[in-house]
Amino acid sequence: MALFDKHKFLEKHSLILTVGILVVVAIGGIVEIAPLFYLKNTIEKVDGMRPYTPLELAGRNIYIREGCYVCHSQMVRPLRDEVERYGHYSLAAESMYDHPFQWGSKRTGPDLARVGGKYSDSWHVDHLKDPRSVVPESIMPPYAFMEGRPLNFDSIEGDLKALRTLGVPYTDEMIENAKLDLVAQANPEEDYDGLVERYTAASGREGTVNVRVFDGDPSKVTELDALIAYMQMLGTLVDFSTYEADDLQNRR
Ligand code: HEC
Repeated sequence: MALFDKHKFLEKHSLILTVGILVVVAIGGIVEIAPLFYLKNTIEKVDGMRPYTPLELAGRNIYIREGCYVCHSQMVRPLRDEVERYGHYSLAAESMYDHPFQWGSKRTGPDLARVGGKYSDSWHVDHLKDPRSVVPESIMPPYAFMEGRPLNFDSIEGDLKALRTLGVPYTDEMIENAKLDLVAQANPEEDYDGLVERYTAASGREGTVNVRVFDGDPSKVTELDALIAYMQMLGTLVDFSTYEADDLQNRR
């Protein structure tokens, strides 16, 4: 059995066997991974997706700072129980401007990918201050210290610029106006036309920019304003009443 004799040679020389294994595994890896870099439709383009507004981005930074992702995922899997509970399964395009993505790996609390619009702003204020005041059996920790705490947004222009280097299509105008846009979104007394115009154009869909006093206190922009603005936007950019998956997904 000549074939097995040759294999005996490999089995007796562990270094050569190791190199052989590496070669075989590398071929498998190349076949699986390399096409993803060339396929145009790895991420299907979807109408409605736009970069985060400066206020939403600041809220997202707080979400990351506080480790909300430790207990909350942001990815609805295409399984029946999840789709019935949370809504349409998450699309790759919905995380395309996330650096880093917030898919998470554990659900101590519910998935938040589509939490936008599910509750009122004041529900979120109460829930973050004291989760058990609205959900008696909740084990979520309170974040009462954020109430009234002014949002530090000195670095917001830099945040937008950094994301632009990673491919998020922030325009020069968006970066120049980042601070004004941030303040305007949390206070309808300010001039928010520019903000709405810029981010509606990026989205291609009306009504994706929420402008209001998120924390109930118009006197200053707080961390709660930012965090709630972020959560109220989650999962609301793509209009699933008109969305149709392309062929690739329909075939599944
Ligand atoms: C120790 C785990 C834990 C951490 C950390 C945590 N949560 Fe929760 N969260 C939960 C649990 C459990 C629930 C379900 C009970 C409830 O609604 O309070 C929940 C519920 C929620 C809900 C309601 C979701 C729904 O669909 O009903 C929101 C919104 C939320 N959390 C936001 C946050 C934010 C924002 C942070 C970070 C500032 C955070 N959570 C941090 C455990 C956590």
